[in-house]
Amino acid sequence: MEETKVISLLKEYHQEHIIQALSHMQEEKREGLLNQLKDIDLEQMKKLYENKNVDYNTDGKITPISYVDKQRLSKEQLEKYVAIGEQKIKSGKYAFATMAGGQGTRLGCHGPKGKFMLDILPEPKSLFEILANSLKRANQKYDVSIPWYIMTSRENNQDTIEFFEENQYFGYNKKDIMFFTQNELPLISEQGKLLLGEDFLIKEAADGNGGIFESMLRSGVLADMNKRDIQWIFIGSVDNAILQMVDPLLLGLTISQNHEIASKTVTKANPHERVGVFCKKNGLPKVIEYTELSEEMAEQTDENGELLYGESHIMCNLFSRKALEKISKEKLAYHSAFKKANYLDENFNLVVSDKPNAYKFEAFIFDSFEFFDDITILRSKREEEFAPIKNKEGADSPETAKKLYNDFWKLNK
Ligand code: UTP
Repeated sequence: MEETKVISLLKEYHQEHIIQALSHMQEEKREGLLNQLKDIDLEQMKKLYENKNVDYNTDGKITPISYVDKQRLSKEQLEKYVAIGEQKIKSGKYAFATMAGGQGTRLGCHGPKGKFMLDILPEPKSLFEILANSLKRANQKYDVSIPWYIMTSRENNQDTIEFFEENQYFGYNKKDIMFFTQNELPLISEQGKLLLGEDFLIKEAADGNGGIFESMLRSGVLADMNKRDIQWIFIGSVDNAILQMVDPLLLGLTISQNHEIASKTVTKANPHERVGVFCKKNGLPKVIEYTELSEEMAEQTDENGELLYGESHIMCNLFSRKALEKISKEKLAYHSAFKKANYLDENFNLVVSDKPNAYKFEAFIFDSFEFFDDITILRSKREEEFAPIKNKEGADSPETAKKLYNDFWKLNK
């Protein structure tokens, strides 16, 4: 795109402050900013800003979704599904992807969250090492080398790769680890303006964990999976200390139910726990936020006394490669969050904000479910699947995750 075109688009979309900044910027910085602007879709940003307060989930008919409770499967059923899953895993058709592009704001960590050291027994380990060890155990069990795709953000990519290098990839086969970077979107001020960062570039942030699909396509991850003839991919978060990413039961059940996608859930701790839960919306699978469930619906139970909307999404999702290929070409909705952002004004003075002042736009992985007619849901036990590290202290903190990890490994040695 020509420079004049960039300038005229900035004018058209009322971003004159950026034109002004460009007009008295050093040549090198100006070049950098112009290059970046060529790739920013101002029409998309305008729409995102206009719709920042639109809640995508408020209309539509919400109904309960069916699930399989692992505890209620008979021995025969368990054996049958596990055998189907194991056969696929052993034939080398299974891969794992980690979403590691988050900022870990609540935990307050600097750099990649996967570098966070969890003080577990017998000795502290980083979250990345915990994941690597889990995968290595599966490789040994099934005599395979499971490809591991790791999504980073532009911000933490270099740091993540260096950490793996320094640690000799935790003994994992280097040829089976691939890093790929997720997209970013500009932040937008309350007045609908792009912000200039301290590096003299438009301030951007990772576009949410739902960015994984498009990024897999763009970065060649899907092509690599195709080349390796991978058929099933488990996508998990970086911050679950007992993530069971190689789960033959989940895989076998999904194949048997003839579904393209699946998710493991845990039951809500209480009807009003602040978590997203599975449901069907207009007949399609969906995760809805606790804020969108009325008090009555949150407390509704079935004939066995089980919560009708009690299956919480814990970022344990399985996709067929075909499903990933399909979603990678779809547009997921963006959700906005109002955040604090420092920026440079048109005279390049730093503006430090002590309260939220900018919109960040993020896609969520679970918004991909509605592109499919149905989903396999496997209700699992919290203490066997879910030890999240989100907050510095209290619930879902290193302290709670450490206990869950140590207890899990005491029982599963
Ligand atoms: P969260 O939404 O809990 O974000 O991510 P976070 O970075 O861990 O923590 P906060 O909200 O900043 O405190 C759930 C999973 O999605 C990944 C995270 O790395 C984590 O594994 N994620 C999140 C991405 O990969 N990219 C993103 O843009 C956002």
